[in-house]
Amino acid sequence: MTRAELLACLSPLALAAGCDGVTSPPPDAGPALDVEDKTDVVIPERVTWSVVQPVYLRNCGGCHGGQSRGGTDFAIDYDDAVAESDSCPPDHLLRPLRVAQCAVERVDAGTMPPNGVQVSEADAEIMRRFLSSGLDPE
Ligand code: HEC
Repeated sequence: MTRAELLACLSPLALAAGCDGVTSPPPDAGPALDVEDKTDVVIPERVTWSVVQPVYLRNCGGCHGGQSRGGTDFAIDYDDAVAESDSCPPDHLLRPLRVAQCAVERVDAGTMPPNGVQVSEADAEIMRRFLSSGLDPE
């Protein structure tokens, strides 16, 4: 997904615009909206533990916030978030992965959360940026 498409998906217009990255506007749609100026979702480039943790808690805390489903409470415990993943995916060739890496893979694969609830693109991006920010414990 390009940066522009991602921003489009983060905007309040996303539902109307469609977010599959394939849809193009109909020919009579007029000039493209400048979504970058209109979006009120700002994701910091650098995502540390204190930024990602509430996002984990909101999306995953019902099972990983002290209930230890799958043996991990990464939504409340940094050490669990950076621990070696047991399950990601079971046949992964590059094991070990950290649980935080596994979280991104499973959100992208649609296997977490397992109850059919979707993680928003903005929250998924925050989870990805925690990885690219080096799992910063701050
Ligand atoms: C309804 C309960 C539930 C919710 C909500 C949930 N999980 Fe899970 N999760 C589980 C269970 C049960 C397992 C163990 C079985 C499995 O791996 O599928 C698990 C396992 C995992 C693992 C594997 C842990 C390891 O050691 O590799 C990861 C990663 C994970 N979940 C990420 C997430 C993320 C990210 C979210 C939120 C976006 C989330 N889960 C939400 C129930 C849940």
